[in-house]
Amino acid sequence: MAEREPRPRRTARARGGPLDATARGARRAAQRGSGWTGREFDVVVGAVAHGGHCVARHEGRVVFVRHALPGERVVVRVTEDRHPGYCRADAVRVLEASPARIDRPCPYSGPGRCGGCDWQHADPAEQRRLKAAVVREQLVRLGGLDGADPRVRDLVVEELPGGPLRWRSRARFAVDRSGAPGLRRHRSHDVVVLDDCPITLEPAARAVLGRRWPGAGAVDVAVDAAGLVTTTRLDRRGRPQSTRVLRPGADVPEEPAGRTGRHAVGRDWEVEGTGFWQVHPAAADALVAAVGAFAEARPGETVLDLYAGAGLFGGALAPAVGGTGRVVCVEADAAACAAADANLADLPQAEVWQGEVDVQGLAGLLADLGGAPHVVVLDPPRAGAGPAVSRLLAATGARVVYVACDPAALGRDVAAFAGAGYGLAGLRAVDAFPMTAHVECVALLVPA
Ligand SMILES: C[S@@+](CC[C@H](N)C(=O)[O-])C[C@H]1O[C@@H](n2cnc3c(N)ncnc32)[C@H](O)[C@@H]1O
Repeated sequence: MAEREPRPRRTARARGGPLDATARGARRAAQRGSGWTGREFDVVVGAVAHGGHCVARHEGRVVFVRHALPGERVVVRVTEDRHPGYCRADAVRVLEASPARIDRPCPYSGPGRCGGCDWQHADPAEQRRLKAAVVREQLVRLGGLDGADPRVRDLVVEELPGGPLRWRSRARFAVDRSGAPGLRRHRSHDVVVLDDCPITLEPAARAVLGRRWPGAGAVDVAVDAAGLVTTTRLDRRGRPQSTRVLRPGADVPEEPAGRTGRHAVGRDWEVEGTGFWQVHPAAADALVAAVGAFAEARPGETVLDLYAGAGLFGGALAPAVGGTGRVVCVEADAAACAAADANLADLPQAEVWQGEVDVQGLAGLLADLGGAPHVVVLDPPRAGAGPAVSRLLAATGARVVYVACDPAALGRDVAAFAGAGYGLAGLRAVDAFPMTAHVECVALLVPA
């Protein structure tokens, strides 16, 4: 039998490029799958990336490093290696520290521990610089904005009053199989049992942590303006089971007797138990100020407040449009709509419509409105509004004030607006979540 020629092996060169030693290392590691998990090596830490980590490189591969800061030299331990292009690691030893590194105020934070915070080891000013860098990067990379645009280049993440600890007025704590509450380890279902959470307001932490919640899957907690603490117990599938309220100074929780109260922009607001309200006690005022300045709502104008929650932005803008104007708040959740109805009852120019902000719902809403809105405020959940809703909003020609809790989602939606002829006319960012990688942005988008 004639000897057959061996089949040519597919190489990177055959597909058009030489393969250097580091790239070969990367490919081999990728083929090995989880080969690097548990490995330790030292790296010089590069720029911050979206998600609470920094970027480093080792043997040609990208390593996303948590618990480090840009410029540091650290020993990392690989925690996850499932992707050909990158692996994840924790900085387990600092060889050369950044001047911005601080001792973590939270005893539960650190490599392999509670995954609730990302930047406990960074001084608060550095946290804000890191967040500004992430917002810029997402708006340039995903949003297609020009990084040299001063609105992007010079972005400063604004500090809120109250310091970096004890600001969290609303939280969800996980509960383990034994009934002990805590927070999940980073990228894990494991619950790290906590006796305290130093970023959470003390009454909320005390009401949930260090107690037993047998049979529960999680507990939601919120503190209102009067110090009333509401806890909602959830089952293992995330379904609410029961709600209790604890009055300041009382030991025994009671059945809820109505909504809880918040105070912002000089008004009292009702909120459904542990339902949505800005988490940081100073965030509602700061965001309303930013939204109001961008919206420039004038008497007689029509304002749409999409994803309205309890009606915060719509209620705050209603006085500006006056009795001849109109504010329509749109919200999917029935309980939030009922709270918004109560909150806006003294503002006859404001209405609450229960409905989904999606292409169909929004098209119907715009048709029912009987004319294009002058201003649209939207504050969607983390996933953003999406390209189809963004394009539909751009077709109205309205000034659009976009409040975003995820700069990546904002970047994607800004790109959709840009594709429909809109440009960025203003940008603010607020550190509404100190110690974490989260940041709240407010963008003004107008027809270019
Ligand atoms: C980030 S919160 C904003 C609430 C409000 N703007 C505030 O600052 O208090 C998002 C709100 O959108 C609502 N929501 C989520 N998806 C929605 C959808 N597809 N249509 C309408 N509302 C939605 C949620 O129930 C929640 O109240």
